[in-house]
Amino acid sequence: MLMKIQRVVAQGIRGHYAGWSNSGKMVRPICIVLLSLLLEACTSPSVREPVTLTLLDEWPNKTFSEARQQELQQFTRETGIRVSLLPSPESGRQKLVLWRELLGTGASGPDVYAVDVIWSGMLAEYFLDLKPYFANEVSLQFPAITASYTVDNKLVAMAYHPDIGLLYYRTDLLRQYGYREPPRTWDELEIMAARIQAGERAKGKKQFWGFVWQGAADEGLTCDALEWQASEGGGRIIEENQTISVNNPQAIRAWQRAAHWVGSISPPGVVGYREWDSLNVWVAGDAAFMRNWPSAYVDSRAAGSPIRNKFDSALLPGGKAGRVGTLGGFGFAVSRVSVHPREALELVRYLTRRDVQVKRSRVLALPPTLPELYNLPEVLEPNPRFDLLSQAFRASIVSRPSNVTGKKYQNVTDTYIQAVHSVLTGEKSAPEAAAALENELVRTTGFKTGPPLGKSAHP
Ligand code: GLC
Repeated sequence: MLMKIQRVVAQGIRGHYAGWSNSGKMVRPICIVLLSLLLEACTSPSVREPVTLTLLDEWPNKTFSEARQQELQQFTRETGIRVSLLPSPESGRQKLVLWRELLGTGASGPDVYAVDVIWSGMLAEYFLDLKPYFANEVSLQFPAITASYTVDNKLVAMAYHPDIGLLYYRTDLLRQYGYREPPRTWDELEIMAARIQAGERAKGKKQFWGFVWQGAADEGLTCDALEWQASEGGGRIIEENQTISVNNPQAIRAWQRAAHWVGSISPPGVVGYREWDSLNVWVAGDAAFMRNWPSAYVDSRAAGSPIRNKFDSALLPGGKAGRVGTLGGFGFAVSRVSVHPREALELVRYLTRRDVQVKRSRVLALPPTLPELYNLPEVLEPNPRFDLLSQAFRASIVSRPSNVTGKKYQNVTDTYIQAVHSVLTGEKSAPEAAAALENELVRTTGFKTGPPLGKSAHP
């Protein structure tokens, strides 16, 4: 529309000059004024046709979607562009099914999609390359985050919050049971969790558990199990050089260890827990430790939370290869068939903007994507633990093998989840499950087998 009007105006000006060639000195300024008035008119919100974008978001939780609504209202105030927010299902797998359904129809559905880091390779073809629009912003992000949204040199999404697996712990209970610091190793975690659990139960809290985490057969389990095995030197399932490394003694031992937690320091039902299930037990005050994402912070410290001032978070415990957390998080991508790509890009720019990230870090305690923001007092003061996170995003993350496996990632992760889950439920022994998993991965990816690479904690 804008281009059409520009063309019409330009033709008109040429016509004027042809007929009024002698009075060109007067016509030129008039034409320039006319042109700028017209251009201004076409870009001003009052004449711009009102646009409503559709955003498919990731947050099923009330606190987070309320915060998002507020962000979007501010966006509408700033730009005149309205946004209708579509809610999302809770589980990672259900989300991906819905996203694929909408994108696969080829019809213009949502304009902007929230995209999990691991979906970049699977969904790249449906989205615009954001690189030309965000080159500068992207160069300021944590490099590992940018890498996870880049497929064949195409920037599939702009990250808006990075995730990393963390250990939440009860400061009051640690103190009561004589521990000065959270556990640094899995061995220490086991000892502390068992002792606190026994003590709390003896006091009558029969529902109390040492450690809750994500054991349901869903993507959360891939994240947790990768942390167990990578911290022991058991690799990242499929390595950066495309070798399938998962069938190794360190990974097997790490799974066996976790299987022993079920029913001892963790509830038997943990094999059905997703993030929100663990959070519910934790916020109720019924667990000493929890593995979860940074987003668990906000509900833990909400008014009315029984553990409001009684917890903190730390890096997850480590093993032989150090302490690691799985890299997660979401970004925003623009549909290739959006009928409002310009406005959609504006929305992505706004939602990933510096000041919006700063506000989000204060309201929702979500870590920003830009390392420089971690030095700001307004970010650090309400979130002292961010110091640790900015280190962790540089040095302590392990990435799921979604980049190496591209479109096949869902298949790879599903097979991995089934294998680990069968060990947790006692259905299969860990060596048996690892061998079967290896065979299946060779069959589906065509990659060769090999050992885990060096210090496998790094992406
Ligand atoms: C979190 C992470 C995401 C991960 C999911 C698994 O939302 O940000 O990357 O895939 O949890 O449940």
